[in-house]
Amino acid sequence: MSPLDSPAALTDSEIFDLRYARSREDLWSMLDRLYGNHPGYDSFRPALDATLRRAWTERRPGLKRLDMMRDLEPDWFQRPGMIGYVFYIDRFAGDLRGVIDKLDYLAELGVTYVHFMPCLKPRPGDSDGGYSVMDYRAINPAYGDMADFEAVTEACRARGISVCVDMVVNHTAKEHAWAQKARAGDPKYRDYYLMFEDARLPQEYERTLIEIFPDNAPGSFTWYPDMQRHVWTTFNEHQWDLNWANPQVFLEILDIMLFLANKGVEVLRLDAVAFMWKRMGTKCQSEPEVHMLLQALRAATRIAAPSVIHLEEAIVGPEEMLPYLGRGEHDGKEGNLAYHNSLMVQFWSALAARDTRLMTHVMATHFPPVLSNATYATYLRCHDDIGWAVTDEDAAAVGLNGFLHRAFLADFYEGVFPGSFAQGELFQHNPDTGDKRNSGTTASLAGLERASLGGDTQNIGLAVDRILMGHALIACSGGIPLLYMGDEVAMLNDYGYHDVPDHAHDSRWLHRPVMDWDRVELARAAPESAPGQVFAGLKTLLARRVETPELHAARPCEVLDTGNPALFALARRAPTGSLVCLFNFTESWQVIPLDWLRAQGASSMVDVLSQAPVGDSQGMMPLPPYARVWIR
Ligand code: GLC
Repeated sequence: MSPLDSPAALTDSEIFDLRYARSREDLWSMLDRLYGNHPGYDSFRPALDATLRRAWTERRPGLKRLDMMRDLEPDWFQRPGMIGYVFYIDRFAGDLRGVIDKLDYLAELGVTYVHFMPCLKPRPGDSDGGYSVMDYRAINPAYGDMADFEAVTEACRARGISVCVDMVVNHTAKEHAWAQKARAGDPKYRDYYLMFEDARLPQEYERTLIEIFPDNAPGSFTWYPDMQRHVWTTFNEHQWDLNWANPQVFLEILDIMLFLANKGVEVLRLDAVAFMWKRMGTKCQSEPEVHMLLQALRAATRIAAPSVIHLEEAIVGPEEMLPYLGRGEHDGKEGNLAYHNSLMVQFWSALAARDTRLMTHVMATHFPPVLSNATYATYLRCHDDIGWAVTDEDAAAVGLNGFLHRAFLADFYEGVFPGSFAQGELFQHNPDTGDKRNSGTTASLAGLERASLGGDTQNIGLAVDRILMGHALIACSGGIPLLYMGDEVAMLNDYGYHDVPDHAHDSRWLHRPVMDWDRVELARAAPESAPGQVFAGLKTLLARRVETPELHAARPCEVLDTGNPALFALARRAPTGSLVCLFNFTESWQVIPLDWLRAQGASSMVDVLSQAPVGDSQGMMPLPPYARVWIR
């Protein structure tokens, strides 16, 4: 038989071998460097191969089919059709099965990606919002079980919605079976964590570490008298940091990642990745080995579950964040997605200051116009606080004092700065460093709560415009825009958390409300109300995004300088022409010459969002307070 008459389809095993060959170098070049000198490396190599092959063998046909489709359409997550929605299962839908009943609602918003906030089995009691996991192979019993989970991922997939779940890689709960065995003295499992018999090394590390939760979990180590050991606990006492220098930890976590992939997860949100590797004399964040680990994990899922992508959570400054999207040595080989923390910070900063110079400087200087095989997750708010990640250097570049600007922002969004429109709370005020972060929902931080209290219609209107402008910004600046549950109907702060014992110490619960379905009804019934305007406005703008091919994440995003500090501008460059996006960050009218727009590549002078022509007879384009326009 001539080879040309062989069957068209490759066998499963041929596909695996081809994918392995494709990623072999990406995988092993990293592992050799990380673990080559480890005494267990010889047995690690075949064990890893066996893990990959077993996961592939167990993968269900429908998922293998998806793998093949994604191999043919590797830009699937960069397309303008991608719109994300983030929620807690219980707070949004009661339980997992309840999510199925909400799929019509999500489809109405245009959602194609859902992030189920931590849904694996947490420790009992305070679990840091589920980020203290005691069993990665079980679902939080309050939400359902693994069969429910698979049913939900299948229902989502059938509707073209990809499911993202959290994979906490930096630490486990101290109640996890590994930690329990370590605690009981098993040396194999003691080596899964970072333990010290005396305080000497911990104290030496502490000199350069940054406290993450200084308020309620100061320091980075915890002493356990029963073990006579200090354990590395970057976050809370109950979250024990894993020892990634031990190749067994790599193997275990990879095995879990592939297990979840085989349950239908399409996006793995790798939590707190910056902290995975420790080095004396550093802040132990974003060390080079972190990127080696992440490239190796990425290569491994690309072999055994190639439809899966990785979202790397690293809430750090721009220079430190970009490598998570695989710049430099790891170009195109590391995270597919990373949070655009700077865009979020700069949005709120420019809004408070009514001045976009810092934002324009940061976005233009630090962020490349395109990324290889990767893009951002853009957002206005998430389940965490806002840390004012503005460096002294960036502030100075536009004539600001970094410390004072950060303090201004914290006061402004707490609501104590005179004239502030915002209402929020502080998170983790550290009097030693002066660092203050903030909590609050998008709507409350944007002024809706204060304006509504006073029944002040003009300010309510301004708050609505701030919310819609922010969403128009995250929908056009490259990447997947993530809507945070409740923001689509402008939900306000939830002060009830103060009365919940497990939550009261953590102001992030201020912006993790239970979904207010009555507000959705109100939004539908009263389109002129604030929730109604936000709901309708968001649906329209997301629908426009889907129809705007210039917003494909592979299209360059260029930050423009209008010369007017009230305005922020960017252009999306496509072979068919440019899309110029403009935002007015003030409550005053502004104008921009049409000639300037033309010089930036706008040709039709039609705003894609309102679908109306722009410009007046004097050759100017007027921009009302908080205007957002995407001009083609
Ligand atoms: C991530 C989560 C945050 C959690 C922390 C520790 O930053 O987003 O909510 O507290 O990791 O797991």
